[in-house]
Parts: sequence; structure tokens; C-alpha cells
Amino acid sequence: MLNTIRVTVKRPVRSIFPTGLLLAAAALIFSASFLDAQTVEAREKWINERQPPAQVMDAIGLKPGMVVGEVGAGRGRYTIHLAARVGPSGHVYANDIDADGLAAIRDRCRKDKFGNVETILGRVDDPLFPKAAVDLVFMVYSYHHLAQPVDMLKAIAPSLKPGATVVVIDPDPVKTPGERQSEYTPREKIEREAGAAGFEIVRMEIFLPRDNLFILRVKERGGSGTAGERPPRLTARR
Ligand SMILES: C[S@@+](CC[C@H](N)C(=O)[O-])C[C@H]1O[C@@H](n2cnc3c(N)ncnc32)[C@H](O)[C@@H]1O
Repeated sequence: MLNTIRVTVKRPVRSIFPTGLLLAAAALIFSASFLDAQTVEAREKWINERQPPAQVMDAIGLKPGMVVGEVGAGRGRYTIHLAARVGPSGHVYANDIDADGLAAIRDRCRKDKFGNVETILGRVDDPLFPKAAVDLVFMVYSYHHLAQPVDMLKAIAPSLKPGATVVVIDPDPVKTPGERQSEYTPREKIEREAGAAGFEIVRMEIFLPRDNLFILRVKERGGSGTAGERPPRLTARR
């Protein structure tokens, strides 16, 4: 009996995936990511027109040389404006819990030549900013996403320099009716949560068409700086 010898001939990859098919797939991938980038750009443009960065940064008193901690920076829509305003003598800590977003911010800053932005992968209850380092904490469209807003504010407090502010910009329920309730931050909610974390609202700006802007500061404890002290009782002890 004759032994049959099997000869396996490996077909080159090119014959399985003809060049035309490979080129078509590459074109499809390229055009999908191009369209994706265009959609992101169009969306950013649409939001920025309703939240003009220069107007917002003027309202919150952001100046060259300041150090900003941005919580929930996303893919850097506002980060680049903050970085441009504080300039090379200032600094932006761009925080998020999404590592992919932070990678996109680093790419964007490299491309736009911003050397004053540092990304920080935070925890859900702590942005992990350095202590006593920031002049202003900035949160745009991120406060309503926070799972633990009170803990987050408490964790922010030690990172603030004396007199520093926390800025929150979020949609207003009256200005944008019909959106999901979870997308809003009504004044009562932030007032309650800020209070529980030891902050107070020192200013509220309503000039944006869809959003409100809240400026918070750590609550002062007694005019003389004597935290928690009460005046002496006037009644004599028996
Ligand atoms: C709607 S996006 C806003 C992004 C950016 N601020 C903007 O306006 O384009 C909300 C962001 O908040 C982030 N986020 C949610 N919870 C967070 C937390 N606990 N700490 C930091 N970032 C958080 C999300 O990952 C997301 O990037």
C-alpha cells in the first residue's frame, strides 16, 4: 500500500485578503475616525458657543500665572483654554477617572504645544491634586457626574491655596427643560452638598444660556478665625 503524502501549501496572506480589499478596509477605518473626529469637533464648537471660554474665564477671574485643578477634564475641551489663559507661568492639573480621556488630553497638548498641563488619574472620591497647590478648581459638565460629590469636595479642600475658589458649571433645569434630571445641578443640590463638605456658594452667575456657574469657597468658621468656638455664656454658674 502506498503511503499518501500530504503537502500543505501555505497561501500568502495577500491572496486571502486581496490588495483591493485591504485598501478598502483601510479607507473605511480612516474615514470612520475622520468622521468621528469631525463629530467631536462639531460638538465641541456647539457647546463652546454656548459657554464662551473667554467670557467664562473672565467671570471666574482666571489670570496668567494661576494654578488650576480641573476635575472631569474629559478629552480636554476646556483644558486647552485654561492652559492658554494661565500661560507658561501657570499650570493646569487635568483630572479624570477615564484614562483614555487623559491620553487624548496629552496628545492634544503635545499637538498644540502646551507644556503647562499635567494629567492626573483620580479616584471617584478624590482628584488627587497636590496639597495647597491650586488657586482655582474648575468643573464643567462634570459635577453632575460625580458619584460622591460631598467626598469629592472634601478631598478638594486640602489642595486649595488660601482664598482659592471652586467653580462649577452645569446645566440649569429651567433653562434646558426636557433633559434628563440627572444632567442638571440645581442650586439647592449644590448648596446642600457644598454645605455638607464645608463649602458655601459665594457667587452664582446666570449669564450662560443653558448653564449656571457657581463659585464656592471653604466656609469661614467664625469672624476671628476661631473655628467652632462659641462666645462665653453670660449666665453665672450657680
Ligand atoms: C460630560 S464629561 C465633561 C468633560 C469636560 N469637562 C467637558 O466639558 O467637555 C464628564 C467627565 O467627568 C468625568 N468624571 C465622572 N466622574 C468623575 C470623578 N469622580 N472624578 C473625575 N472625573 C469624573 C467623566 O469621566 C467625564 O470625562
